[in-house]
Amino acid sequence: MIQKSMAISPEGKLRFGGADVEALARKYGTPLYILDEGRLVENMRAFVRGAEAAFGRDTLVTYASKAMCFKALYPILEREGLGADVVSGGELYTARQAGFPMNRVHFHGTYKEDWEIDMALQAGVHSLIADGEYDLENIARRGRVAGILAPVMLRITPGIDPHTFAAVNTGMECQFGRPLETGQAMEFVKTALKQPGVRVLGLHCHIGSQIFEEGPFALAAEKMLNFCRQILDETGWSPEYLALGGGFGVRYRESDPECSVEHMLRGLGETVRRLCREKGVPQPKIILEPGRSIVADAGMTLYTAGAVKQIAGGRNYVIVNGGMTDNPRYALYKAPYTVYNASRMTGEDLETYTVAGRCCESGALIQENVRLPRVQGGDFIAVACTGAYNYAMASNYNRVPRLPVVLVKDGADRLAVRRETLEDLLKCDI
Ligand code: LLP
Repeated sequence: MIQKSMAISPEGKLRFGGADVEALARKYGTPLYILDEGRLVENMRAFVRGAEAAFGRDTLVTYASKAMCFKALYPILEREGLGADVVSGGELYTARQAGFPMNRVHFHGTYKEDWEIDMALQAGVHSLIADGEYDLENIARRGRVAGILAPVMLRITPGIDPHTFAAVNTGMECQFGRPLETGQAMEFVKTALKQPGVRVLGLHCHIGSQIFEEGPFALAAEKMLNFCRQILDETGWSPEYLALGGGFGVRYRESDPECSVEHMLRGLGETVRRLCREKGVPQPKIILEPGRSIVADAGMTLYTAGAVKQIAGGRNYVIVNGGMTDNPRYALYKAPYTVYNASRMTGEDLETYTVAGRCCESGALIQENVRLPRVQGGDFIAVACTGAYNYAMASNYNRVPRLPVVLVKDGADRLAVRRETLEDLLKCDI
């Protein structure tokens, strides 16, 4: 099976994180997100250990909260020694309410409302990532109002094509940061260094998502360290921190490559040390921002199959009791997933199905062309590796309540996010 957390019981049923998923379905209902805490911790440790081995002890791994954000995640991150990056007042609020140490938090975003900047400054975040001159000026202005010297890092676009899908490619020309190629990045740095009210701690870049090789990261590091040399020559300033973003690849299907974090980071560490030596720039503290690779393969979604429809001469559809409201990624990106019939894992009567959600539009599919042991209404359907950008991107389209999140660990389960109720749906209606 695609996930380390998965196993098959003697009765041919799916187990996840040591728990029987049918028992979880009976206890919490479906559809349901299940997260294996054991796997989460393994992923966190792989990054923290890998980063320390590669870049030294003062490196920082900050989890990209956008991948999945709920309160119970933060004590685990804290225990494992990670920081967190947030991109909104909502994510910051969640981390703060969870008691997460604010000096390990980075605040990102292309548009920061004044109240969000104020909240970040008052909370005492490690830094705000200024996305450009406009953002920088706003941060400085709010800092002056609060009487706080605002710690900032500067978002740079290094102009790298990480050969990934365009919707999540942020290293080439895009709306994020200031580009190296055009000279605007250098102008931005010089403006920031002269900007009263801010303390410039470092530089930041993020080149994209689902990157399986070290190459694009090494190229980003090289471009950024070249830039550091240039900045040193022109201004005498060296960044204390260099953030290289997230984007480490995750296996959603058997055909996806394996991505060894330790191996990639080791190579990247050597590259960074060599480049700093060759270019004569002091080695900055490296920050990594993995999101997907921490949570994706720790999570799965469990649905109940309803109707199984055969279109004469056409396809088999199985309709499940969730859909684009809890996983919009197929509708948005045609994102691949591995699907299982959790009730009959060992069945040999395989059929090809399109797994469709319950939303009222034909594109509301979870996955097409999946081979499953024959599905009957009432079977449980599992979609693997849904820990990242599923719960985080869920919506109330069709006024469907959002799903609960259950954490499992060595067979024990606990509710981390309860299911939305109909009353919740009316909370904001006047
Ligand atoms: N840091 C920054 C500045 C980012 O913009 C992102 C992701 C990350 C870190 C984390 O990247 P990761 O390690 O998760 O690949 N909704 C899309 C993903 C958008 C990611 C945007 N930025 C999806 O469902 O694939």
